[in-house]
Amino acid sequence: MSNQQLNSAALMALEDQHGAHNYHPLPVVLDRGEGVYVWDVEGKRYFDFLSAYSAVNQGHCHPRIVGAMVEQAQRLTLTSRAFYNSKLGPYEQYVTEYFGYDKVLPMNSGAEAVETAIKVARKWAYDVKGLAPGTAKIITAQENFHGRTTTIVSFSTDPDSTGGFGPYTPGFEVIPYNDVDALAEALKDPNVAAFLVEPIQGEAGVNTPADDYMQRAAALCKEAGVLLIADEIQTGIARTGSLLATCGNCTCENGCERQPATYIKADLLILGKALSGGAYPVSAVLADNEVMDVIKPGQHGSTFGGNPIAAEVAVAALEVVKDERLAVNARVLGRRFREAMEALKGECDLVTLVRGRGLLNAVVINDTPDSSTAWDLCMALASNGLLAKPTHGNIIRFAPPLVMTADQMEECIAIIRKTFLEFAR
Ligand SMILES: Cc1ncc(COP(=O)(O)O)c(C=O)c1O
Repeated sequence: MSNQQLNSAALMALEDQHGAHNYHPLPVVLDRGEGVYVWDVEGKRYFDFLSAYSAVNQGHCHPRIVGAMVEQAQRLTLTSRAFYNSKLGPYEQYVTEYFGYDKVLPMNSGAEAVETAIKVARKWAYDVKGLAPGTAKIITAQENFHGRTTTIVSFSTDPDSTGGFGPYTPGFEVIPYNDVDALAEALKDPNVAAFLVEPIQGEAGVNTPADDYMQRAAALCKEAGVLLIADEIQTGIARTGSLLATCGNCTCENGCERQPATYIKADLLILGKALSGGAYPVSAVLADNEVMDVIKPGQHGSTFGGNPIAAEVAVAALEVVKDERLAVNARVLGRRFREAMEALKGECDLVTLVRGRGLLNAVVINDTPDSSTAWDLCMALASNGLLAKPTHGNIIRFAPPLVMTADQMEECIAIIRKTFLEFAR
């Protein structure tokens, strides 16, 4: 069936009638993307300030990534891991050297990778740390977002994520985010296997902790003999102005230089989203041998994980990040964006707080979380040619593709400023 003749209203009606209502999208039907732009079916062009929740860091339809995908799709798509394939080994070598780990376990979606990290950490706790079977505990943080599986929502503190989905998986303790004292207290329990944390909580509204939070958390985990699991599915791969957000406010110029002042190495690193530049579902868990080698044949897997298309796409996506110096671009443009939003905060009372790092930013709108103000602002932004989405009611996240130019950023700042000032009148 061709949808060429259907307009936005007809296409939205189709989704409404035939699709589960598990999302509440902005009423815009996108049909094409290139770089920082997307077009709807009527041909209107928008700046994309969501980047598919930070999956499209390299820009829409990046020719190198799409080229790698098409070429591989015409050669070999899937073998399963019952056999070796000619692309997986080279990808595994590339990605482990890129991020500085011994081994990678390839998966597809972010949630699957989080599940994988949880399983690896539990297995490590029994096989290496020597905990009694069934006792391993994982600490997580309030307002976390790690995905949608039944185990992952078991430690969510968002009622929409958890409500009606019990019984929940045991073995998790939730502590306040950005609170090292609470972590130190929780780590006193000898049955703790790991601390699972986002270096910046994206879905919670770009909740940005103290600059030294991750460093202090890493030190506490190390001291307690507990694994630090960094979920960098949203924050990783140059989004926050460094290759990984766990690097903090680094000044690396070309790839990760492992600067001793800021660099911390999580025991388990979880990546997804931009690992493929948004072209294909590719996720990964990275760890050193002492941890990863607890997984033996038959103990974990995925039919699609590590397939040759994913391998080729991920290598291309990571090469683009390095070759186009996207971390530095995100750092510079992010600074400019926050400065402009701070200025806007002074010009109207719609904005109460600006926060973020690199090009993962949010503004908190001066209204209650259950008000429609942030949604209405996003509708006005869309009609002025810029797509952003509220998160948690009164917060708007701004996360454009990292291939944006300085001139394009000025154009976007002007659109946001004009929209907010008109709205405030
Ligand atoms: C930090 C974090 N972890 C995990 C996930 C889940 O990823 P996926 O939607 O690919 O399962 C997300 C998605 O937004 C995320 O932001």
